[in-house]
Amino acid sequence: MSTKQFDVVVIGAGPGGYIAAIRAAQLGFSVACVDAWENAKGGPAPGGTCTNVGCIPSKALLQSSEHYEHAGHAFKEHGIDVAGLSLNLGQMIKRKDTVVKQNNDGILFLFKKNKVSFFHGRASFGGAATADGYPIVVSAPANETINAKQVIIATGSNARELPGAPFDEKLILSNTGALAIDAVPAKLGVIGAGVIGLEMGSVWRRLGSEVTVLEGLPVFLGAVDEQIAKEAGKLFAKQGLSINLGCKIGKISTGKNNVTVEYENAKGEAQSAVFDKLIISIGRTPNTNGLGADKVGLQLDERGFVAVDGDCKTNLPGVWAVGDVVRGPMLAHKAEEEGVAVAERMAGQHGHTNFNTIPWVIYTSPEIAWVGKTEQQLKAEGVAYKAGTFPFLANGRARALGDTSGMVKFLADATTDEILGVHIIGPMASELISEAVVAMEFKASAEDIARICHAHPSLSEATKEAALAIDKRTLNF
Ligand code: FAD
Ligand code: NAI
Repeated sequence: MSTKQFDVVVIGAGPGGYIAAIRAAQLGFSVACVDAWENAKGGPAPGGTCTNVGCIPSKALLQSSEHYEHAGHAFKEHGIDVAGLSLNLGQMIKRKDTVVKQNNDGILFLFKKNKVSFFHGRASFGGAATADGYPIVVSAPANETINAKQVIIATGSNARELPGAPFDEKLILSNTGALAIDAVPAKLGVIGAGVIGLEMGSVWRRLGSEVTVLEGLPVFLGAVDEQIAKEAGKLFAKQGLSINLGCKIGKISTGKNNVTVEYENAKGEAQSAVFDKLIISIGRTPNTNGLGADKVGLQLDERGFVAVDGDCKTNLPGVWAVGDVVRGPMLAHKAEEEGVAVAERMAGQHGHTNFNTIPWVIYTSPEIAWVGKTEQQLKAEGVAYKAGTFPFLANGRARALGDTSGMVKFLADATTDEILGVHIIGPMASELISEAVVAMEFKASAEDIARICHAHPSLSEATKEAALAIDKRTLNF
């Protein structure tokens, strides 16, 4: 085992870590990035949860399953008859794996390009800092000790288990198993109607599963603007997703080929449901296992996250933490923003993360995207606001696409007209939300958007019209 000296060592090569490593290298630091993820052949697979079992593979399967569903139904309306439609699930999963590998390889290429030294193995603090910095011990296959005065912890998160129902990834699935099912389950159970439950539930419903979602809370998508959540609930029910709110999950038991969930429904009635597979998606927990936090006195908060201040500084000098392992939304782009900001702060610059303008997207069909405050938040905070909505039904491009469900909703300050929140449910909401993020970053008013020329015919005209709706001036509705 040898010892190597770097300015910065980044632990974890997910979106938080690999982006921080690249930015730090761009700023002139000598940088090492350590990541433990292994591909099926035992080789390195940088990119973290997001690339391997999160954002990227889920979007690949969402796309494939949407094509399949469109070929079965929507194409007909366009005058395209598809005869002999069949599903090749093996090819669909293989394509998803190829997309993942392209991303893994892309990150290794970017490390080379930016002169980031990559170490494959598990990293832990070897002890207190010396004059050479913190000794970071990296396990096999790298088998190295790295010294660095600055350390960025970006170790991400893991799926949360339900007590008594550990993931076996065969019958009881986390996100990992949910992305690699080898035959479409006739009956699929999902516990948790959050982002993963809705996205993965949509994938398998489109591919033919009867999907039952059991949610603990009595409200659907509580973090989403109520009007949008209500619309989403209606549309998902129409698609055949059975979403059951207010469920109290009891015993979960596995048979040879099925899993039984006992629960109480919202009326307090005892229920029992048998599924071929069960996805549990009830949130994620920060990953600090084996990091050696106790060896250096790294402070964790009461929920196990690495404790950081607003600048991502931990209690240890020169040690920072970003992404899912710290407070805030568990989103890849939030992790990336923090990673860049930390690298810039290390270089004496003013790194910046604006938590008020982080967009959220749920990649269902229709997509749901939002930024800023919801109407219920504004009411609770006693903020005087104006609201404007515009339905995609009245948008020419949406009609041409054959995808007219949903709306764009603007919330603006009643006095200043500053945009406080934008909420979209509809086609390409994930792309449309960027305009709102830019506008809010520049503290634009709804009137600013209403006066900007938007291409015709485009879905973005619905954004302009929703801004016009604030003052009841829509032109096409
Ligand atoms: P991670 O991506 O979890 O990366 C951490 C890395 O650190 C991992 O590679 C891990 O192996 C490694 N590691 C941990 N401990 C050590 C150690 N001691 N030594 C060495 N390496 C270590 N977010 C979005 O914004 N958009 C989406 O569409 C989206 N879809 C998702 C879909 C699913 C199914 C899931 C589960 C998540 C999704 N997310 C999405 C969330 C997103 O994946 C996370 O927010 C993001 O990956 C967090 O990045 P990170 O760098 O903090 O951690
Ligand atoms: P989540 O927080 O989105 O949803 C979890 C759901 O499970 C909630 O509705 C919660 O009320 C419910 N729940 C919790 N405990 C329960 C219990 N005991 N019984 C029944 N229901 C229970 O978490 P999820 O879906 O696991 O995703 C984790 C995180 O990953 C997300 O919060 C998000 O940050 C990230 N993610 C982001 C995506 C995106 O940006 N498109 C896609 C997928 C995940």
